[in-house]
Amino acid sequence: MTAISGDNASRLMRALAGEAVTPPPWWLMRQAGRYLPEYRALRARAGTFVDFCLTPTLAAEATLQPVRRFGMDAAILFSDILLVAQALGQRLDYTEDGPVLLPIGTPSEVAQLRLGGISRLAPVYQTVRLARAALPAETALIGFAGAPWTVATYMVEGGASRDYRRVKEWAYRDPAGFGALIDLLVEATVCYLSEQIAAGADVVQLFDSWAGVLPEDAFARWVVGPTRDLVQRLKQRFPTVPIIGFPRGAGLLYERYAVESGVDALGLDTVMPLAFAGTRLQPRMPVQGNLDPVALLVGGAVLEQAVAAIRAVLEGGAFVFNLGHGVLPQTPPEHVAALADLLAAPIGGG
Ligand code: CP3
Repeated sequence: MTAISGDNASRLMRALAGEAVTPPPWWLMRQAGRYLPEYRALRARAGTFVDFCLTPTLAAEATLQPVRRFGMDAAILFSDILLVAQALGQRLDYTEDGPVLLPIGTPSEVAQLRLGGISRLAPVYQTVRLARAALPAETALIGFAGAPWTVATYMVEGGASRDYRRVKEWAYRDPAGFGALIDLLVEATVCYLSEQIAAGADVVQLFDSWAGVLPEDAFARWVVGPTRDLVQRLKQRFPTVPIIGFPRGAGLLYERYAVESGVDALGLDTVMPLAFAGTRLQPRMPVQGNLDPVALLVGGAVLEQAVAAIRAVLEGGAFVFNLGHGVLPQTPPEHVAALADLLAAPIGGG
C-alpha cells in the first residue's frame, strides 16, 4: 500500500495521510445548499430534489458552487444519503419538513428490496466524473454515503424521529430480521461507493448521523460491525482511498469506533470536547471538525473565538477543519468568506 503524500498531493489528502498541514485544509458539511443564492437559483430549475440529485449537469454545478466562491480544499459530491433507500425500491419524497419514506419493519418488506436497483444511481457517478473534470488538481473530491445504521433508521422510522423507538425495537426484538436489512445496506453501499471512487472520488465519507442513539453493545453490533465490514470490502478494492467516518453523537464511543471500525479518519461532531479529541482520538488517526454551525451563523467574535479554540488544540496533528454538523440554511455567506480568511492566517494571526 502506497502512502498518499508528497508535494503533489492535495492539502486534504496530505492531512488524511497523517501529516500536520498548516494552515489546515478545510471544507464544510452541507457546503452546497440553501444558504447560497446561486444554489437556490439552481434548485428552482431542477424539479424535485431527487430529480436535482439525479441530473448530473445540475448536481455537478451544485458541487462546484461553494468551491468556486470560497476556495475550500475539497468539494463534496452533491447528492443525498437517502437515494440508496429509493434505489433499493423504497418510496421517498422530500417535503418542507425533510425526507419522508414509506416505512418498512418486517423481513418480508426487506425481501422486496432489490440490490440491483442500485444501478439507478448511475447518474450520481456521472456527476462525480463531471465535477472531478472541472475541479483543479489541488481540490479533492469527496464521495459519500450514509452508514448502514443511519440509512436503516430513516427506512424504518419513515423520516426523522424523536426517540428511534421503531428501529431500535426491531433491532432488539429481531436482530436476525433487522440484520438482513443492515446486510443489504452494507452490500449496496459497497457497490455505491466503489462506483463513486471508480468515477473519480478521491476520498469517501460515511455519515452515521444517528450513531449516538445506541447503548454500547448495540453500537458495537449495528454501528461498528457493519462499518467494519463495509470498510474492509472497500479497502480490498481501493486500498489507498481514505475513508472518513462520522459517527455523530457517539460521545465516549468515538474511541471504540476509532479502534475497531477500520476508518482512516474521524469526523468530530459539535459537542465532542477538544481535550478528548486531542488526547484520545487524534493520536490514533486524523480528525476533522468540529465548529458549531451556529457559531458560523452568528459570525464575528463568536466565530473567531471558536475557530481559534479548535485550531489551538488540533492543528499540531493531522487535522481537517470542518463544522461539527451541516451548514444551516440561515447562514450568511459572508460568514463563510470570513471563515476562509481566518483559516488562511496562521494561528494567533489575522
Ligand atoms: O454536504 C454537501 O454539501 C453534500 C450534499 C449532502 C446533502 N445531504 C444534500 C441535501 C449531504 C452530504 C447530505 C447528507 C445527509 N442527508 C445526511 C447526513 C448528514 C446529516 O445532516 O446528519 C442526512 C441525515 C440526510 C438526510 C436529509 N436530506 C435530511 C434530514 C434532509 C432535510 C433537512 C434539510 O437540510 O433540508 C435532506 C435534504 C437535503 N439534502 C438538502 C440538501 C442540500 C436540502 C433540500 C433542498 O435544497 O431542498
